[in-house]
Amino acid sequence: MSKTTFSAIKADVGGFPGHATVHPKLMETAENNLKGSDILLDYHITHCGDDLELLMTHRQGEDSDEVHSLAWDTFKKATEVAKELGLYGAGQDLLSDAFSGNIRGMGPGIAEMEFTERKAEPLVAFMMDKTEPGAFNLPIFKTFADPFNTAGLVIDPSIHSGFTFEIWDIKESSRVFMDAPNEMYDILALIGAKGRFVIKRVFPKEGKLPTDEPVAVVSTEKLYQIAGEYVGKDDPVAVVRSQSGLPALGEVLEPYSHAFLVSGWMRGSHNGPIMPVGVDQARCTRFDGPPRVIAVGFQIKDGKMGMASDLFDDPAYDPAREESALIANYMRRHGPFEPHRLPLEDMEYTTLPKVMTKLKGRFESVE
Ligand code: 13P
Ligand code: 13P
Ligand code: MG
Ligand code: MG
Repeated sequence: MSKTTFSAIKADVGGFPGHATVHPKLMETAENNLKGSDILLDYHITHCGDDLELLMTHRQGEDSDEVHSLAWDTFKKATEVAKELGLYGAGQDLLSDAFSGNIRGMGPGIAEMEFTERKAEPLVAFMMDKTEPGAFNLPIFKTFADPFNTAGLVIDPSIHSGFTFEIWDIKESSRVFMDAPNEMYDILALIGAKGRFVIKRVFPKEGKLPTDEPVAVVSTEKLYQIAGEYVGKDDPVAVVRSQSGLPALGEVLEPYSHAFLVSGWMRGSHNGPIMPVGVDQARCTRFDGPPRVIAVGFQIKDGKMGMASDLFDDPAYDPAREESALIANYMRRHGPFEPHRLPLEDMEYTTLPKVMTKLKGRFESVE
């Protein structure tokens, strides 16, 4: 049977209210635009915060013109509705009017993978709002390389040899493939600097699965580099397969039991704790946050997604939510001070040049 492609494509095409969440009319518009499609095998529409998320399966492979055009057209139509309703920042993530077949570099975030379906194919789409692609470095690393997270790395012979990480240097536009566990410390030297080095894909090593088909993929679009100015953050998505030669579902979800710090939050310029939530709670209200992550799980069968399971809608994540709320309080008390506020070079925008211009002539040299 031909391979299945799972595409997660997302954009903020208008917030309701402010940057909090997605208006139901935009979800409805997306639904109406995808349902008639004869390219898709299946789809599921959801939202994380103010990001409209299109999850789709098809047989067109990655970077398909048809699938990308369909997504673009859907975002365009949703933008029109957002304008009619006067939603906040209508069309925020659609940076170009001239679509030419590929949505990459146009503003939306994309995580796509083509793979040979196994007998049972558990797959999770993770979606984050108010943060950046590097926010996935810690959880993806833990799932595929940390034996304290993933018991299978120690006790399951089929994953004992570890995984290969494709890591992108998003400042230099280059990439490197590195092996865990043997290069683990070097991998961490890079991906700990999550504003620059991001995990793009993970591949299996020798074992049950084809070594050229990714088992995890993360969107790595950087809006501020695309537009050359602040136009909204690159709230990321990731797709992760699990079980039978891969980390178990619970090992894929386990890293989110900890409210780790990510950058983004208010005005894309603050560090704050991620909060794992069910889809209904993916509403960024506290200082436009705290940054949220949702996880929607599927059992893919013959390219069909079947029922969606809202995986963080579970009291097991209450302690992580409480931890996040507590850390949010702690961080907020720093107000405009680092490390709550991001270092100057990482802020989405800053008044500093204006302040410096105003003070020109008042700075005296000191010996
Ligand atoms: P306004 O300047 O329109 O309030 O937008 C700022 C903003 O929303 C940054 O996230
Ligand atoms: P979004 O990137 O989710 O639109 O958030 C913008 C922002 O700056 C919120 O304060
Ligand atoms: Mg927004
Ligand atoms: Mg957003």
